[in-house]
Amino acid sequence: MKKYCVIGEKLTHTMSPQIHKAYFDYYKKDATYGVEQIAMQDMLDDCKDTLMQYDGFNVTVPYKEKVIKYLSGTSQEAKKIGAVNTVVNSDGKLYGYNTDPYGFEGMLKANDVEIKSKTFVILGSGGASKSVYFILKQRGAKCVKIATRNQSKKDVDDFITYDELESFKGDVIVNTTPVGMFPNTDGCPVSDEIIKNFDAVVDIVYNPVYTQLLQNAVRLGKKAVGGLYMLVAQAMKSQEIWNNSITDETLTKRIFNSLMKDYFNANGGNIYLTGIMSCGKTVKGKRVAKALGWQFVDADEYITQISGKSINQLFDEGESVFRDWESKAIEELSHKKNLVVATGGGAVLRDVNVSAMRLSGVIILIERKIEDIIAGVRTDTRPLLKDGAQKLRQIYDQRKDRYYSTCDYVVKSHEYDMYKTVKDIVKIVK
Ligand code: ATR
Repeated sequence: MKKYCVIGEKLTHTMSPQIHKAYFDYYKKDATYGVEQIAMQDMLDDCKDTLMQYDGFNVTVPYKEKVIKYLSGTSQEAKKIGAVNTVVNSDGKLYGYNTDPYGFEGMLKANDVEIKSKTFVILGSGGASKSVYFILKQRGAKCVKIATRNQSKKDVDDFITYDELESFKGDVIVNTTPVGMFPNTDGCPVSDEIIKNFDAVVDIVYNPVYTQLLQNAVRLGKKAVGGLYMLVAQAMKSQEIWNNSITDETLTKRIFNSLMKDYFNANGGNIYLTGIMSCGKTVKGKRVAKALGWQFVDADEYITQISGKSINQLFDEGESVFRDWESKAIEELSHKKNLVVATGGGAVLRDVNVSAMRLSGVIILIERKIEDIIAGVRTDTRPLLKDGAQKLRQIYDQRKDRYYSTCDYVVKSHEYDMYKTVKDIVKIVK
């Protein structure tokens, strides 16, 4: 039986064993993954005997650099980054790798954040910053700057100060500082004025999931991505190195979904039902809310409440007027807990809405045959269907891929057994 672990100084809150156990279960591997706390003095003196008990291990702060003296060799990227997070024991010799850059890349990919030809600013210049910098450069970012508080780096290539950042425009901000991390969750590393100069914000902090930085980004209409996916993706990459095999990409997403579910069960979160109009979000949503003892919210009704206008009136002012109110509604709802929200059919069109939903709960797509919907839909109350129900097919064709790419789970809208759909949804969150 293979034996793995994570080494670090204080490991009381590590999620790594849970993630790797899910990997072993999926591949039916007979292996264990434990936790090895090593005191700083032992790390500095000699802990080789402890390390050699394992077939492989992960390394976390503050040992990612200190472990290097125990290694017989390191990979190119670990050398370049100057830090190791994955070690292989090969016939009594230890070799070091770094999977953090690939975890970060996987997180961007899973959230459709492009690297090529984009301008990034990384906040902070610690260990994680180096991994992020490495992969962004490697994958063809147009420009990567590192914002630092350290005034002595002012004139060093690719570093900028926070003062200079005030007037810097780019595409994506990546936070690698610990600002905003539990328990100091009120912290935010940059001002609204800085966030406004970018399209997207990525935070590698994952506790809390919806950091203050990401909340501010969503309020300003930006795409916002949280850090938990990176943790899972770097772990999967470590397994690839230990097993010399490619990990099924859907497994990363599955483990991520399961961690998110645990997080929302412990901390509170919402259910967002998505799908084309008339797929059954309201009818089923109400019953799911009842089954869970949660509050049901119809997003269109909520928009009417906060705007003081009917949906038809808002559409008469222009679809973008309605969409702005819709984003405001979703942003407000994302700060509440234990809601079942029936979203409007177009709610997933804007990245910011998807970000707000993903960071505050689970997104469940209700799948129903478009032919069945067209046969029964009311057109008089739906501004987008004023020219008839057939318009719905066109809308569906345009949005279909988006529904699937933005959801965490899919449930079928069972035509003759509504309670089966309700049960399926309840089962997902409980
Ligand atoms: P490390 O990765 O070295 O263990 P960390 O505590 O995770 O360090 O913090 C990562 C980086 O975030 C730090 O190197 C620091 O970068 P700069 O000194 O270049 O600014 C940055 N950082 C840490 N604490 C911060 C704070 N309170 N405000 C802003 N940036 C901070």
